[in-house]
Amino acid sequence: MKHFFHKGKDLSKPTLLLLHGTGGTETDLLPVAGMIDDTASVLGVRGNVTENGMPRFFRRLAEGVFDEQDLIFRTKELYEFIDTAANDYGFDRNNVIAIGYSNGANIAGSLLYHYKDALRGAILFHPMVPLRGIELPNLTRTPVFIGAGTNDPICKPEETNELAEMLKGAGAQVETHWENYGHQLTHTEVQKAADWYSLLK
Ligand code: MLT
Repeated sequence: MKHFFHKGKDLSKPTLLLLHGTGGTETDLLPVAGMIDDTASVLGVRGNVTENGMPRFFRRLAEGVFDEQDLIFRTKELYEFIDTAANDYGFDRNNVIAIGYSNGANIAGSLLYHYKDALRGAILFHPMVPLRGIELPNLTRTPVFIGAGTNDPICKPEETNELAEMLKGAGAQVETHWENYGHQLTHTEVQKAADWYSLLK
């Protein structure tokens, strides 16, 4: 997958896996990663699917209607890519924290939905429920931060709550932060994610 890797100053820190929104690129979330931990290594990845020229992490049939077969295929592809990257760049595969926005948050959610050991934790900005009707793996003590908007027309509050409950039901430690805005990523929600991250053990 198209990507970049920046080795951090502190190799004991997690590697931050950056997953952009629709139409984004692997470097979009670099400023966000810098606010969350500027000493951590960073792996920025570009989605392998394009929709009218816009990179995405998986296909959709319509706004908010996912191509589930492609989602499952692309989730496995990303999971295997992280394995390969850990090997190539020498970072700890068991210490990867995803930072995803919108479509990138959805594939990060899908990694959590499908694999027990894909991520040590995740920061999901404006995520949706990636898939329904599957049993989640055991996510005991996996920390997850969700940033959401009470007026988000794409990721509706009830869907945010459904996602949080599903993750909690699988054992994850979920913190949801609400902003009174829409789908945009705000400075204050990134700051909240940084505060949450700073308390991780
Ligand atoms: C998706 O397709 O993943 C969601 O609708 C969010 C987005 O617009 O990318």
